[in-house]
Amino acid sequence: MAAMEHPTADPRRILTVFGTRPEAIKLFPLVHALEADARFHSRICVSGQHRGMLDQVLEISGVMPHHDLQLMQPDQSLDELTARLITGIGMVLDLEQPDWVVVQGDTATAMAAALAAYYRKVPVAHVEAGLRSGNIHHPWPEEVNRKIIGNIAALHCAPTERAKAALLAENVDPATVHVTGNTVIDALQWITARVEAQPNLAGGLHELEHRFAGKRIIAVTSHRRENFGEGMKTIASALRRLAERPDVAAIFPVHLNPNVRDVMASTLAGVENVALVEPLDYPHFARLLAMADLVLTDSGGVQEEAPALGKPVLVMRATTERPEGVDAGTAKLVGSDAERIVAEASRLLDDKAAYSAMARAHNPFGDGNSAARICDLLCLPC
Ligand code: UD1
Ligand code: UDP
Repeated sequence: MAAMEHPTADPRRILTVFGTRPEAIKLFPLVHALEADARFHSRICVSGQHRGMLDQVLEISGVMPHHDLQLMQPDQSLDELTARLITGIGMVLDLEQPDWVVVQGDTATAMAAALAAYYRKVPVAHVEAGLRSGNIHHPWPEEVNRKIIGNIAALHCAPTERAKAALLAENVDPATVHVTGNTVIDALQWITARVEAQPNLAGGLHELEHRFAGKRIIAVTSHRRENFGEGMKTIASALRRLAERPDVAAIFPVHLNPNVRDVMASTLAGVENVALVEPLDYPHFARLLAMADLVLTDSGGVQEEAPALGKPVLVMRATTERPEGVDAGTAKLVGSDAERIVAEASRLLDDKAAYSAMARAHNPFGDGNSAARICDLLCLPC
């Protein structure tokens, strides 16, 4: 008898939903992997929660969305944004009828996509699952967003063992939790290789490199909602004081949120050793991290990238859901108090031993193969 033929299974229909810069950066390696893999039919919905900052990533990564909900409005409120996200993503789900919905992290888009999928009984895969600060006000509203997604997801892709343990402590079914590493390391490796092959992709920083030649460079980012108001003001005044040092220059790509821009511009515009620049695209930002001596940030993703590049990072937040960098010694929590930021940054600038102790490249967050692992998990029965 002739050998029986195995019918080829239909490709899994995966709808990946995202809307902001960090989600796009952390999901493009997975989208690339899904698109190259015959086991999947990959579809993409962007909410447009961000616009310019999202489009920068779509362009460099070559990711082309099938749906763009164009939801960004200036200084949008969380309740209005969330309502429009659930309705808009719900309509895309009804059209696409996916086997899996993939979301990343803890943004309003990720939370709303998970909820819309749950309303339709479509299983959700959560990339970067299990991050917890233990405080629902820090980061706000992200801690609650990711807890909501954690309650819904059928597949939890935890970046680290610690993230896995946090989910198990919340009684998540262990069979659904897998340590995959964080796709941010896949993204960083991809962009670093692109820039090495085509240095002109990050050529736009030459002028600043020339202007600040011989100075120690501090790369700065700040955008957290819990720092709005007083926190932003104290961060700005700390930078102003640090920039009084003749041996230091700060390069600060300023987030497009008006709550960030207005404060930073009013305190720092025109200060000699500070360059306030527009948000950098990913090749230029990776180049900025590479040329920096020190990183000051309240960003989540930057806390993961800086250790991979061996850059000491002072985290301007009260808590972190990424303690792996702190445990490994490349990151330190300093909050948003001006005195503390100036003191900790000055210590690293003046004390060689303290600097060397923090400036060690290591990758507690991943090995660059996370997207491939997640693809294999998306093939498991759901
Ligand atoms: C969002 C996420 C946050 C994430 C951050 C990454 C939520 C609740 N917050 O915060 O978790 O860390 O993105 O950057 O999901 N804007 C522009 N152009 C852009 C992007 C933003 O003009 O490309 C301005 C708009 O005025 C917009 C405002 O920034 O209304 C706030 O954007 P929003 O997405 O609501 O919040 P973020 O503070 O960016
Ligand atoms: N980033 C960028 N350009 C910038 C600032 C940051 O490409 O001008 C990248 C950075 O490398 C990281 C991601 O944006 O991968 C972090 O995004 P953001 O700080 O907006 O959000 P968070 O990580 O705090 O959610």
